[in-house]
Parts: sequence; structure tokens; C-alpha cells
Amino acid sequence: MSLTFDLQRRPDPTSDERRTEILADPGFGVHFTDHMATATWTRDAGWHDARVHAYGPVSLMPSAAVLHYAQEVFEGLKAYRHEDGSVWSFRPEANAERMQRSARRLALPELATEDFLASLEALVQVDQAWVPAAGTGETSLYLRPFMYASEAFLGVRPAAEVTYSVIASPAGAYFAGGLQPVTLWVSEHYARAGAGGTGAAKTGGNYASSLAGQLEGIEHGCDQAVFLDSATHTYIEELGGMNLFFVTDDGRLVTPELTGTILEGVTRGSILELAKDLGLTPQERRIEIAEWKDGVRDGSIREVFACGTAAVVTPVGALRWEGGEAPSTAGEQGGEVTRSLRAALLDLQYGRAEDTHGWLTRL
Ligand code: COI
Repeated sequence: MSLTFDLQRRPDPTSDERRTEILADPGFGVHFTDHMATATWTRDAGWHDARVHAYGPVSLMPSAAVLHYAQEVFEGLKAYRHEDGSVWSFRPEANAERMQRSARRLALPELATEDFLASLEALVQVDQAWVPAAGTGETSLYLRPFMYASEAFLGVRPAAEVTYSVIASPAGAYFAGGLQPVTLWVSEHYARAGAGGTGAAKTGGNYASSLAGQLEGIEHGCDQAVFLDSATHTYIEELGGMNLFFVTDDGRLVTPELTGTILEGVTRGSILELAKDLGLTPQERRIEIAEWKDGVRDGSIREVFACGTAAVVTPVGALRWEGGEAPSTAGEQGGEVTRSLRAALLDLQYGRAEDTHGWLTRL
């Protein structure tokens, strides 16, 4: 039976003035809407108690399994306001299905696609006013569904009680510098994920394990770290929160193939499709870090960019590593292909281009 998210409206919502102030400069991940959606799963009763209620602190026992064993998965997608005022999401079924795959890997219960979609619709419906107006640049309402082991129990086994929630956060550009290329650090000491591990799941532990590499990068004047395969430290994987693409001199758009240690980004998959519309040949294969270092020097790699729901398409500039640096090919605002793909994606998401792929769902 599918879930109905009952509305328990917050009695003291944010004032119109304060919300307008926030939406004028939302930043990323710092402001939250008035409500959230929640459902509970228990081993005996399955999913139940679905509701939309006031955004606020959650109550957990200190022994809640998630706090000890990180049995948790999450998603990220956005709600976009179109020129006619309607609100749309981009390929939300892909997020629902990825959350089901992540849940299987983390021994959490699966939430049916229709229930996932119902939770987004119910939340965006009540917090409509928080979706930034059309034509305000890259602003949207970022939706963060997540699921965690809320059972109070210290034994190591799949939790018998799990909580699912969605929160929403008005969002501008993920990187403060906007389209300014990001500089990357090659993380040679720290891997993000290993074979047979949880690298393909969207789970907090992968992001936690990327932080030491990112900190090392920041210490070396970089914005983000690029992670390599943990077995040979040879092949490019991803940035931790973003996938990577390379534009080659022979018109290919190359991205690391999915090996089970890389997150299968919805933006990544969409770009592989959009590339064909732009006359590029998409290619998923293993890419050695040496190919990047050499390719930007000998001209066989023309452009590099990172992509993700939050970051959209972000030009990548210089690459640094212990004792070396490869130059940027990104200029001030990224190369031509990077900018074209970014524009094609944003035009689709904001309803400025025809949705020929059938990727938009009205919320
Ligand atoms: C997203 O792009 O939605 C993510 O979850 C990645 C994170 C860096 C914000």
C-alpha cells in the first residue's frame, strides 16, 4: 500500500520578509524551509506514519545505531521554478531508484519510487513559496531525502527501526566562485572507496572518508580533491561529491566507467545523453591520472569539468599533486564544451528548452 504524507502545518512559519531576504542570497545548504517530510519503518509494520511537519530537531537516543555504525543513505535533487510559475524536478525516479540501490547495500529497507515521489510532492506543495523565482540565475530548492537507522541498539545488525525524511533548502551556486574553475588536488594517501565497499552507494561514510583528502588539498591551495582507485592508485575515480568528465581533441567526452566504487551520478548519466545531442561521442572507460597530467600539456585533453546535482557543471582548472602541477585548460569560465553542456542542462531543468528526453516531473 502506498504512503500518504499527512500535513501537520507549522503554526509559526517564517515571515514573508525573512523568506524574501533568504531567497535573495540563499548560499548553499544553510537555510531550510518551514517543513520536512518523515516516515517510519519497523521490521514488524513496514513503512508507516508518513507526515509533513515542522522542520526542527530530531529526537534520537544516544544509542541510535546510525550514530555508531553509520547505517544511513541519502539523495540530492532540486525543484526548479519555470517562467510560468510551475515547479518541476529533474529525473526524480532516478534518485528514487538509486536510493533503493544504496539502501540494499546498507541493509536498509527500500522505499518504493511512488512513496519517494509522494514525499517530495507533499513537501514542495506546502513549502512552494520557498522555490526561488524563475530567472534568478542558478537558484533552486535543493531537496535532501535521507534514511537512517533510528533504532536504539548497539548490536551490529540491520536496524529494526528506520526513519526516512526529506528536508528542503533554497540553494544558489554550490561553489562561491560560480563558474570560476576549481583547482584539484590528487589524493595519493587517501582513497574514497575500495572494491566491494560502499563507493557506489550514496552513504555518509563515503563523504566522511573524502574529507581528509579534501583537507590535504585545501592545505595545498586547492578547492577539492580527486580520488584514485584504492588498489593501484592509478585510475581516476571521482571528487567525493562530484563526477569528472574530460573533453578530448577528437570530440570524445570521457568519464571514468562505473566500477562499483564510483557514484552513478544522475547528472553524470544525463550529460552522457546530452553529449550526443551536441555531436560529442560519450565514452565510459578507465582513465589513468597520468593521462590527465600529460593530456593537458600535449593538447589531447581540451577541457575538464566536474558535475553533480549541487554543483551542476563546474569547470576544473589546474591539477596539483605532491611535487607537481598540470596547467588549467579552463580559462576564466571553462571551455566551450563545458559551457554548452552546462547551458543545455540548465535550459532543460528551468524549462527553457523542450524536454525531449522526458526528464521533468511536475511537483
Ligand atoms: C549533490 O550533488 O546533490 C550531492 O549530494 C553532493 C554534495 C557535494 C552536495
